[in-house]
Amino acid sequence: MNGVTILSTGTALPKRCVTNDELSKTVDTSDEWIRQRSGIGCRYMCGENENTYTMAIEAGRKAIEKAGINKEDIALVAITTSSSDYLFPMNASMVQAGLGLNEEIMSFDLTAACSGLIYAIELARGYLTMNNKKYALIIGSEHLTRITDYTDRSTCILFGDAGGAIIVGLNEGAAYANKQWTRGNFDVLWCAGASGNGQKIHMDGKEVFKFAVGAMDQGIREALEASGQTLDDVKYIICHQANLRIIDHVKKRYKGYEDKFFSNIERYANTSTASIPIVLEELFDKGELNKGDKIILVGFGAGLVWGSAFIEL
Ligand code: COA
Repeated sequence: MNGVTILSTGTALPKRCVTNDELSKTVDTSDEWIRQRSGIGCRYMCGENENTYTMAIEAGRKAIEKAGINKEDIALVAITTSSSDYLFPMNASMVQAGLGLNEEIMSFDLTAACSGLIYAIELARGYLTMNNKKYALIIGSEHLTRITDYTDRSTCILFGDAGGAIIVGLNEGAAYANKQWTRGNFDVLWCAGASGNGQKIHMDGKEVFKFAVGAMDQGIREALEASGQTLDDVKYIICHQANLRIIDHVKKRYKGYEDKFFSNIERYANTSTASIPIVLEELFDKGELNKGDKIILVGFGAGLVWGSAFIEL
């Protein structure tokens, strides 16, 4: 069976960074409350001429440049997002044009909330394997502040805007697993689409919190089991960055392995599908991740959906 490797990453951030103190000027909250309940210190917010598409293009372009590949060899482009600029055309077709990618390409948008990137990795692996192709470009791009309700203080403090891209290629013989779950639910986390009614994020924070801890724990355990690997083999467990307290609760279940969990939510808040590529980029840039390292990616989100991937880079 083929595994996959991540050849490169690229990220894109809006120009404006909003600290908790700045947010507290318009929302009844405080830096202390936000940090204590979520670990978040600031978030980026799109301004004029910044949106899901512009961040996707920037992140994608950087990932292609860093990978040093011929973009003719990109056979699939997937944009994972819950905050599309348009219902159609899909972001992936606009990104194909914007980056000058092949017309002979599998392109699609994928909405699986914050698990989208993990789902897309598995689809890319299957497609590249079946069609004997080289690379896939997967981009998580989110303009979440556009659908955030700033009159709901328990929700609005959590979200930020960003784009994050990865180039995925096949890795023959490498350890690999990818697990996905879905439990349809309209109540705890939702945002209307074309129905137009309630186009803001609605969330029952406590329910999401409980679900998230169990889902991430299951994702990690089953990724290990399916790949036949142990925690000792793993360099980093990279969780979707939704809330530092959620990650801390998961960590408690992995005594002795706490240092394998990494978080940078303090600087970006919850950027949904962009959050895992942003962590990956930071770890690659610091030299913390290298060829041959084994990692677990784990995400959860509205749907409810959750998923995990075991990857040997
Ligand atoms: N600033 C100050 N006080 C706030 C506040 C804010 N931003 N938001 C809520 N509060 C208050 C509430 O009004 C409540 O006050 P009360 O006790 O006087 O009624 C109190 O703080 C506790 O609120 P509660 O909603 O119970 O807080 P919580 O501990 O559950 O934390 C979340 C709220 C949203 C931070 C937390 O539930 C969470 O992170 N859930 C997961 C959400 C998530 O990850 N979503 C994305 C999934 S991809």
